[in-house]
Amino acid sequence: MKEIRLNTTDSSCRILVGESFKNVGDYLPGKKLVIITDENVYQHYGAFFPDALLITIKPGESSKTLSIASEIYGQLIANEIDRKSFILGVGGGIVCDLAGYIASTFLRGLSFGFVSTTLLSQVDASIGGKNGVNYEGYKNMVGVIRQPEFVICDPDMLSTLPKKEYYMGFAEVIKCAAILNADLFDLLEKDHKKALDGEEGTLEEIISICVDAKCRIVEADEKESGERKKLNFGHTFAHAFEKNTGIPHGEAVSIGMVLAAGISEKLGLISRQDVDRLRDLINKYHLPVNYPHGFDDVFEVMKRDKKRDGDSIGLILLDRIGEAVIRNIELATLKNWIDDLHTPGGDRI
Ligand SMILES: NC(=O)c1ccc[n+]([C@@H]2O[C@H](COP(=O)([O-])OP(=O)(O)OC[C@H]3O[C@@H](n4cnc5c(N)ncnc54)[C@H](O)[C@@H]3O)[C@@H](O)[C@H]2O)c1
Ligand SMILES: [Zn+2]
Repeated sequence: MKEIRLNTTDSSCRILVGESFKNVGDYLPGKKLVIITDENVYQHYGAFFPDALLITIKPGESSKTLSIASEIYGQLIANEIDRKSFILGVGGGIVCDLAGYIASTFLRGLSFGFVSTTLLSQVDASIGGKNGVNYEGYKNMVGVIRQPEFVICDPDMLSTLPKKEYYMGFAEVIKCAAILNADLFDLLEKDHKKALDGEEGTLEEIISICVDAKCRIVEADEKESGERKKLNFGHTFAHAFEKNTGIPHGEAVSIGMVLAAGISEKLGLISRQDVDRLRDLINKYHLPVNYPHGFDDVFEVMKRDKKRDGDSIGLILLDRIGEAVIRNIELATLKNWIDDLHTPGGDRI
């Protein structure tokens, strides 16, 4: 087990990589407990949950909304949950984003923690304190930054994940490698079979590297005024793909990263070989590299992106494998480049 600390000006979060979720009781503060989970996670692990007021949501993005949050506020009031209570989210990114949002807003904020149950949430979603919900299909439009007390990342829980969900977690792992850690990129190339098979040591090492890298970025820039923006590599496109087609986050990020790498090449930042290396790695992890639809609707969504600034948009690009840069690109130029890089259903990017 490895404990990684995330220290910010007003909080200190313990992230326990390799801890068994069955030991969660050791980390709970002994206050009245509320558990928020989803039906799938409950089916696999509910028998081991500690005593709590249990709130179970339906799996999927449609539960990460203000209306579901509002229903849950009602349940908390009906059960006389007060400021001394503790909220534990047990689930993937959707449960963690929602549970963290509810804990951060109900009664102006309760303490909370996570048992993070998907690869995507262990390496990314449950780390860093971004809690929020979608608004009318726009991803993560309403939210707050506030750190949990602890996050348990138990790699054993990943064995029950549907294969596709497991692969999608590697989208965020590859993102971390591409923008922050060239050694991790090498490791993912070299040990891809072990990683895909869920070999215990390899998995724990990969999760620890990603958690540690993300913690260092969040410590430097919790409110996302600079460095932290780099974690959005591939995500400006991804959010637009998700809005338009409902494709899952990990797949959307994979395609978005290849596109962002292609634009990095257009700007002369990285070579064609680097773009190919990224695309090959994404392929190895059974993730898509090409957006199978037209781009016009995607552009409409991107115009409303949080990172848009007048006629241009801030994009996270690669300076080399393992290092990201942020560049403002005019929307018109971007559209031309994407038209050039993208052929629907093809493999051009
Ligand atoms: N807050 C952040 O910083 C941040 C970062 C990245 C992603 N996200 C968000 O995370 C969300 C995606 O998270 P996700 O990919 O974890 O999806 P998810 O929470 O929907 O989980 C994926 C599926 O796996 C099931 N599941 C979860 N754990 C399981 C287990 N151990 N065994 C069997 N089934 C299990 C779930 O019920 C669900 O059907 C998106 O909404 C995205 O926006 C947030
Ligand atoms: Zn993501």
